[in-house]
This record gives sequence, C-alpha cells and structure tokens, in this order.
Amino acid sequence: MNTKILKINDNSLKLAKALIENGELVAIPTETVYGLGGLATSTEAVNKIFQAKGRPNDNPLIVHVHKNYDLSKLVFVDHDYVYNLIDAFMPGPLTLVMRHKGYVSQAVTCGLDTLAVRIPDHQGCQDFLKYVDLPIAAPSANVSKHTSPVTAEHVYNDLNGKIEVILDGGKCSGGIESTVLDVTKPVPVILRSGLVTAEMIKRVVGACEYVQNAGDDVVRSPGMKYVHYTPKCKTALFERNELPLAQELYDKLTQKGQVPVFLCDDKVSHKLCGEKLLLGVSGEEIASNLYEKLLEGEKIADCLIAIKIDTGSEIDIGVMNRLSKACKPYEKGEEI
Ligand code: TXA
Ligand code: MG
Repeated sequence: MNTKILKINDNSLKLAKALIENGELVAIPTETVYGLGGLATSTEAVNKIFQAKGRPNDNPLIVHVHKNYDLSKLVFVDHDYVYNLIDAFMPGPLTLVMRHKGYVSQAVTCGLDTLAVRIPDHQGCQDFLKYVDLPIAAPSANVSKHTSPVTAEHVYNDLNGKIEVILDGGKCSGGIESTVLDVTKPVPVILRSGLVTAEMIKRVVGACEYVQNAGDDVVRSPGMKYVHYTPKCKTALFERNELPLAQELYDKLTQKGQVPVFLCDDKVSHKLCGEKLLLGVSGEEIASNLYEKLLEGEKIADCLIAIKIDTGSEIDIGVMNRLSKACKPYEKGEEI
C-alpha cells in the first residue's frame, strides 16, 4: 500500500469517510499532534490502530468527536463542574476521562469503565469529524514509543505503507498532546499534563490535583508508564546548571568523530558552543516546536544533548514530562 498525503477538501473528506466506514484507518491533524483515526464503535478498526502502531493492548485510546456531537451518547457527567470545563476548554487540548455508556468498542477502553473524550480545536479535524459524524478513536499517529508527529510528513515517515490516507492539515500549533483529566472524582485529577494547565482548570473549577502514580498500585493513565517520544538517536538530558558538563560531552563526542547537537531553548543557547536546535523562548513556543526539533535532531545527530526547560510558565510541566521521557538524563562519567 502506498500512503497518500491529501489536502483536506471535499474529495479527500469523501474518501476518508468511506475508509472510516469500512473499518480502515485515516491519519488526521489536530491542534496538538496528528492522530491515527479509526471508527471507535468497530473492534476490528480499533484493533488495526493497535496493530499499526505496535501499541501495548492495555493502553486505552481517546475518542474524538466534533463540537456539536451529543456527548451524552458516550459518557455520564458525574459532577456539574464538568459542564464548566466543557464550556471553557472544548474544543481544545483537553481530554476528559468519564464513565462510559458502552457505546464504543471495549477495545478502545481496554476494558476500563471510563472513556477518554476530546473535541479537537483544528478546523480541518472538525471538518473531518463533522463529515463522518461518528466517534473516532485516535492515538498519536506515530509508531509506539517514537516521537509524536506534528506534520503529515512525520506521520508518513512512521506509517507509510500501513495506512491509505493522511489528511494534511499543516503543522500542529500546540505541539504536545492534550491534557488528560479524570473528571469522575469530586476534584478533577490531571493524568497527563498539557497545554490546559492545572492553574487554568483551577480558575474554572476551584480545585485540581495531579495524579500520584508513584507508589500507586494502579497506574491511572496507562500510557504514562511506557517509554515515550524517543528519537532514533542517542540522547543525554542535562540540568540547566550543568551547561559546562553538557559542553564537555559535546566536545568529547566531536573529538571521537561523532555528531552531537544541542537541543535547548533560546535563553541558554548563547552559553553553549556548537551545532544547536533551538526550541524558542516562551512555554507555548517551546511546546509547539519540541517534537519537530526532536524529529529533526534524530536525522542529523548521533547524539542529542538536551537542556531542561525552565521558562517559568506552567506549560513547562507538560514540556518537561515529554522531554524527560524522550531524552535520557545524563549520569556524570557515562560513556555515550
Ligand atoms: O492530543 C492528544 O491527546 C492526541 C491527539 C491525537 O488527540 N492523542 C493522544 O493519544 O495523545 P495517545 O493514545 O497517544 O494518548 C492517550 C492517553 C494515554 O496516556 C492513555 O493511557 C490515556 O490517554 N487514556 C486513554 N483512555 C483513558 C482512560 N479511560 N483512563 C485513563 N487514561 C486514559
Ligand atoms: Mg502517544
């Protein structure tokens, strides 16, 4: 199969709808990262998603719907604050985990009694979701464990030959995956950090907690226990006060004939000497560039030497969650 990248228009939407209705997969843009979409009510289609990604089968998927979709078909609202969250952040990069009604295939939820639901804030994605008017299960459109894709070309590089169509909606503006929020409890609990931050949720609900995975018997958001976002080259992650050590590693690798490249924000870049991939200045800008730079880095570098992010923005939490999974913390004296 030769995977086609198609601009979003009447023809490609028609084709995408036919594929989805046939239980086939279509890669779709969202404002966060590209998704690998399949019909959420079809176990066969959902199994194809897990297969194409090589995803562990205990890691449930998010269901995507258009903004006028009747969510009450899918889930129960357990607390009134949920309506305020929907008003404030949906469409947007927020996924709500709610008790479900058994409408979608059990393969989506991996047998859990909750379902993750999201309304993406991306015009092309909304057009697609409106056109099919069906709930679409979609994880990020990368091979499991690899960096998430933020352009149609990134999807192509991972999934060429495995799916028929990638709908091209340009570069994703958000750049990191949605905030996953458990709203089955009296106080909402963040299972995965993203661009909708705890402070933003607190302003609407009055309270918000982070999940405590450490020591928990049950991992509340199964995806968070796996290795993630990893580029195909070697990596080393440094604290912001370890720049001399990072430079030492860079120089050592260069002397050995390897190609190291720094991955850092613009603020620290002038303190480092060598080839660099710059992530930007603000939290939003860095989030939006992170995966693109990681994917660019793996093409040009033998080793990405990353420096932790600290812009003072709350978005840093989501960015560092990804960066510290993508890049291995460097241990002093370690051979690379
Ligand atoms: O921005 C995003 O959320 C992107 C785009 C494509 O929408 N999607 C995405 O999907 O990141 P994925 O499959 O890569 O991540 C879904 C996360 C995983 O950590 C998974 O464990 C969690 O959501 N999740 C899904 N259903 C859940 C549930 N019922 N309870 C707890 N966590 C759930
Ligand atoms: Mg993912």
